[in-house]
Amino acid sequence: MTHLFTPITIKNMQLKNRIVMPPMCMYSATEQGMATDFHVIHYASRAIGQVGFIIVEATAIEPDGRITTNDLGVWDDEHVKGLKWITKQIHANDAKACLQIAHAGRKSRAAVTPKAPSAIAFEGYPTPNALTVDEIKTLIELYKQAARRAKEANFDCIEIHAAHGYLIHEFTSPLTNTRTDQYGGTQNNRNRFLYEVIEAVRSEWPMDLPLSLRISAEDYVKEGLHPQQWAEIMNGLPHGYVDIVHVSSGGLVKVPIDDYPGYQLMFAKKIRKETHLMVVAGGLIEDPVMANGVLESDEADLIFFGRLALKDPYFPLRFAQRMRYDLVWPEQYIRAKK
Ligand SMILES: Cc1cc2nc3c(=O)[nH]c(=O)nc-3n(C[C@H](O)[C@H](O)[C@H](O)COP(=O)(O)O)c2cc1C
Repeated sequence: MTHLFTPITIKNMQLKNRIVMPPMCMYSATEQGMATDFHVIHYASRAIGQVGFIIVEATAIEPDGRITTNDLGVWDDEHVKGLKWITKQIHANDAKACLQIAHAGRKSRAAVTPKAPSAIAFEGYPTPNALTVDEIKTLIELYKQAARRAKEANFDCIEIHAAHGYLIHEFTSPLTNTRTDQYGGTQNNRNRFLYEVIEAVRSEWPMDLPLSLRISAEDYVKEGLHPQQWAEIMNGLPHGYVDIVHVSSGGLVKVPIDDYPGYQLMFAKKIRKETHLMVVAGGLIEDPVMANGVLESDEADLIFFGRLALKDPYFPLRFAQRMRYDLVWPEQYIRAKK
């Protein structure tokens, strides 16, 4: 029976378990987007705690794509050194590293005037400039260069951030894209930006390495996107371009979300069933029994634990004890293993 400590292979990446730390912005980079000592300690601690797959926080492909001026950056070759330092420590502790590459679009607090598909503001934010087609092409090239740098920094996987109301999500959802050119008007046109970003990333990121896509499968507004539409978006991609769908929800428009343990699982289950792609699922999950149940019933392939990983970097050690699973502990900590 598959459980949290069952290994899994995705393309040429071998994960020792199914425990994922999802990307979580720490707003602790320098104003030039450089990683700091904090990032290395933060990610290495979770690797020592035996998280198998660590997805480094939203990392901006250009300065105007940052949520704040303290976001990590990957728009400059100078960023590679700090990112490499993070991957080295993750790898030294036997975990795999993924970089989430991102653009905040209309939800940037760092840009003087944010960029978006259409000049529609997010509540409480300035009205963005609608991107021209030339500017869109430039951004696609920036995603490509970000992928090259992720490779140079020795990441095992790239995750494209298409969730939470940031730029790619703004293009795909009809709620935020009212364009009438080739990037809007129909769902196929609204998908074009995402597809072109994936293609550009794949031109630098070899097909034998895994690529993940983070999506908000549910906009929580009737006229927005829902899991069925996202499954169709995924099924419109050439085989093997995206290997993992990392399923989240919300963030495009301000609406109340009823969150409870496992509140996003049904979206992940639907995406997995309709696409046959590997799925990372979660949402307020803190209980290994619940997580194992999801894996056992074949509803997801991996489970993410976000806020739990912030509260307790060593939670997988506790999970193993609770599951009576004989986990190999980090050598330095063995005296604490009962
Ligand atoms: C402090 C914080 C920062 C976050 N930053 C990101 C991010 O950079 N990229 C992303 O896709 N999601 C981000 N998220 C969402 C988490 O990845 C995750 O989906 C969310 O916390 C729900 O999972 P949980 O209930 O296990 O915490 C963030 C969440 C938190 C709490």
